[in-house]
Amino acid sequence: MNILAIESSCDETAAAVIKSTGQRSCKILSNIIASQAEIHAKYGGVVPEVAARSHIEVIIPVIEKALGEAKLNWQNIDAIAVTKGPGLIGSLLIGVLTAKILAEIYKLPLIGINHIFAHPFANFLTDNPPKFPLLALIVSGGHTQLMLVEKNLKFNLLGATCDDAAGEAFDKIAKLIGLGYPGGPAISKTAQDGNKNKYQFPTAKLDYDLDFSFSGLKTAVLRQVLEIVGQSRGNLKKSYDLSPKITSDIAASFQANVVSVLVEKTLLAKSKFQPKTVVVGGGVAANTLLRQTLTKAIPQAQFVEPILCTDNAAMIGALGYQMARLKMFIRPEELKADSSLETI
Ligand code: KG4
Ligand code: ZN
Repeated sequence: MNILAIESSCDETAAAVIKSTGQRSCKILSNIIASQAEIHAKYGGVVPEVAARSHIEVIIPVIEKALGEAKLNWQNIDAIAVTKGPGLIGSLLIGVLTAKILAEIYKLPLIGINHIFAHPFANFLTDNPPKFPLLALIVSGGHTQLMLVEKNLKFNLLGATCDDAAGEAFDKIAKLIGLGYPGGPAISKTAQDGNKNKYQFPTAKLDYDLDFSFSGLKTAVLRQVLEIVGQSRGNLKKSYDLSPKITSDIAASFQANVVSVLVEKTLLAKSKFQPKTVVVGGGVAANTLLRQTLTKAIPQAQFVEPILCTDNAAMIGALGYQMARLKMFIRPEELKADSSLETI
């Protein structure tokens, strides 16, 4: 089975062709990503209207390129999988409308994909696909949650963030210490030169031990920065000019704090729910320290290469393939873009 997958929930226009290679596994025939990161960098974050306009401009060429690189034409495609939410509504609409039109023209079944559920499924694009039930740590720009996924694709929420997502915390702290957007890769790089023990930031104590909270950490970093620059909490700036040494020490201390929380909760969920596999997905899964620390704690934990951790269409195709096997198709008139699609 060959699946054409489309992703346009935020600032990446992506299309991929996925070929099934076994009951659980599939492989990537092509994986095209047109990133708008450079366009949004000058605004310090994603501008929704600019993102939607950019998706319109490139979505058809991106899909054509995906088919071309896969050396296939529409006659070889068996289904179209597309992200239906959550995300920016204008961005989602472009992908969903394009998928519906193509499905009508080429008479292909459609699969509507929850972007957040697709992230851990990037791990199925390998020769060693995960086994169910699988424990997924999902760490993206807008979501941080632990899920237990069953063979019938039932996603059970075990814990989630009460406030900021891990990726969001990376982005906000990066901005605060002058590292710009996107923040995750910048913090990770700067932290390499820093001392992670320099600043002791607190970790949140929560009623439910598989939930997360990063807003207290964010405030603690802000307080530390204000102390360093000698400013009281009055006139807060968006960004502070710090010395390279202080910047890298803050980046390293902040990153170590987030990573230790993510690893500790994943270990706890693993011992409570005894999954057959542990996988990590979402942009923050590209973080080197998280990969090293979690691998030390859970040697069998699976990650994919960084390009498949951040937004891409191959992961949409991987979940699409599992849904196609269960005949979870959707009629075009029922498929709707849903910016606040539930992820529980
Ligand atoms: O999954 P993703 O590409 O998009 C969403 O679905 O949100 O995740 C984007 C998030 C951003 O917050 C970005 O800063 C973070 O992933 N990220 C990282 C790294 N690469 C991307 N965070 C930490 N370390 C990284 N290397
Ligand atoms: Zn994502």
